[in-house]
Amino acid sequence: MNIILIGFMGTGKTSVGKLLAHKIKKKFIDIDDEIEKNEKLSISDIFNKHGESYFRDKENFYLKKNLENDNYIIAAGGGIVVNKKNIPLLKKGLVILLTANPDIIYERIKNEIHRPLLNVPDPLKKINELLSKRKPLYEKSADMIIDTTNLKPEEIIEKIEFLIKTLITYKTLT
Ligand code: S3P
Repeated sequence: MNIILIGFMGTGKTSVGKLLAHKIKKKFIDIDDEIEKNEKLSISDIFNKHGESYFRDKENFYLKKNLENDNYIIAAGGGIVVNKKNIPLLKKGLVILLTANPDIIYERIKNEIHRPLLNVPDPLKKINELLSKRKPLYEKSADMIIDTTNLKPEEIIEKIEFLIKTLITYKTLT
């Protein structure tokens, strides 16, 4: 079964995913990287040139494509749940939702420039707006939720390892 990491920007999906994959010896895929590689454009350039809905279509396409693999660790982009067609696709894997409080998210992302949706005059306000819209969608998609606010990546991985065995058995049986 694939393990899929979802959650808002800055919750650590990519760094946790890479570490976890290394530790449990699985392959790692980042959907945003796949899109950039195949489109030969950065996410910001895709948003600028083609708009958000084009990006969302690509996100859906590469999610589907990568779910043809099995036993991968997949990091999805923060907006994967925005396209409701993705939710039943996510459910095919074991979905781990990483969360963090908005102030911590802001601290983590404030010096980064590669996220077009947060390239606005008041990023913290935007984080709060997007989070409140997305929270129910994230929660609906998740098998397991980890609040990363006060955790180091190694601690997050320990939690994931502890829970995945039980959850994978459960999801395989139901
Ligand atoms: C987005 C999150 C980004 C990236 C794009 C849109 C979002 O991924 O897919 O900028 O809508 O939340 P990360 O969560 O990996 O930064």
